[in-house]
Amino acid sequence: MADLIVGVQWGDEGKGKIVDNLAKNYQYVVRYQGGHNAGHTIVVENKKYALHLMPSGILYPNCKNIIGNGVVISLEALYEEMQQFPNLEKRLFISDRAHIITPYHQILDSLKESHSKSAIGTTKKGIGPAYSDKISRVGFRMGELKNLDAFSNKLQNYYEELKPLESLYNITFPTPQEIFANIKNLQPHFLPFITDTTRLLWEALDSKQKILLEGAQGSMLDIDHGTYPFVTSSTTTAAGASSGTGIAPKELQNIIGIAKAYCTRVGNGPFPTEENNQTGELIGQKGFEFGTTTGRKRRCGWIDAIALKYACKINGCNQLALMKLDVLDGFSEVKICTKYQYHGQIIDYIPSDLENVTPIYESFKGWDNTFGIRDFKQLPIEAQNYITTLEKIIGVKISIISTSPERDDVIFL
Ligand code: GDP
Ligand code: IMO
Ligand code: MG
Repeated sequence: MADLIVGVQWGDEGKGKIVDNLAKNYQYVVRYQGGHNAGHTIVVENKKYALHLMPSGILYPNCKNIIGNGVVISLEALYEEMQQFPNLEKRLFISDRAHIITPYHQILDSLKESHSKSAIGTTKKGIGPAYSDKISRVGFRMGELKNLDAFSNKLQNYYEELKPLESLYNITFPTPQEIFANIKNLQPHFLPFITDTTRLLWEALDSKQKILLEGAQGSMLDIDHGTYPFVTSSTTTAAGASSGTGIAPKELQNIIGIAKAYCTRVGNGPFPTEENNQTGELIGQKGFEFGTTTGRKRRCGWIDAIALKYACKINGCNQLALMKLDVLDGFSEVKICTKYQYHGQIIDYIPSDLENVTPIYESFKGWDNTFGIRDFKQLPIEAQNYITTLEKIIGVKISIISTSPERDDVIFL
């Protein structure tokens, strides 16, 4: 049996906090897509951990952490992250099928962003180019680190094909020798962890161990179902959990969607409920909405129940976690977007051209003092009303409410 944590907005919903909170009940925590574009924050007794590739079960000594085949890995980034955690032996497993983000991918990502007329606002971590190479069947996989001679030859050929781009972009790429020298240095640090994680997970399922799958990014950034082209390059929705691990879809039991009590987006692209004004500024300040990975200021606005319904449907969520309720403390009015105006009509679904909608809101009386509350009945009645109304509109049970960054400041319903 495997449970899934999946972001149902545009990322940064608080997935790290919930995975960390729940991980004590699981033997395995598994990342299945994305790369170090992710930034998952965990706070335990005021100490903050920012994880990018490391699964969020890593703070529990008995939890096994898997980086699945669907993830794209920067060796440099993962190596740096591994240094924070001693004794990773038998606690970290990396799929031999996961693809490698090379420095070429990172350079290409930056070049595309700076030369494009409509930049995506990517994290410039090489995610898009690495997944492009995977789909084009020319990527590098972690298992290939076992044969360095072959790796070196492949890198040389890759570089030859890249070379014509030097004149186009007016740059000089690092030589394959330079890149290989670094890979050769890092290789011994990775070899002990590289394995067939698909079979490992099947064995775990056969022996009735509990597995928690940790999504990265959010459903509205999904390559198919998100606000294309302003998306990331992976399947961020539940289907990606299966293809990114080798766990069959029928094994997924609880699919828990993670949403903030409001909404944020970092990078470009449509965001109907954005409050590009004082209100958005205030939400951003109170929620400390700056990217964990790039430090960029996140765009902020009210919660979008239409986008949430859409994401819950695509993922098959049977539960929702509502995060950062405390950030809305002190507002005299809070809003939920329940409909859109679209080409002269009122709709309640996500069209493929989301940039053409205008939000229609239901307004609620605000509240104060929810910070750190761990009992639903202790919440101000207005906050209770907001949550129960939201639950009715979306049609999915809100089973978790979070009221601070701290691991245990959570209400379970
Ligand atoms: P993720 O990418 O989905 O894991 O989310 P991030 O870690 O990028 O962003 C969520 C931010 O909100 C982090 O700084 C968390 O520490 C913080 N956070 C999580 N839950 C709560 C909450 O209930 N209240 C407050 N105030 N902050 C929270
Ligand atoms: P977590 O896991 C929020 C956004 C980028 C950009 C778009 C494409 O922390 O929720 P990419 O570098 O992936 O090609 O960028 O996706 N993005 C995220 N936004 N949270 C994330 O991860 C994100 N990962 C990528 O800002 O708009
Ligand atoms: Mg994040």
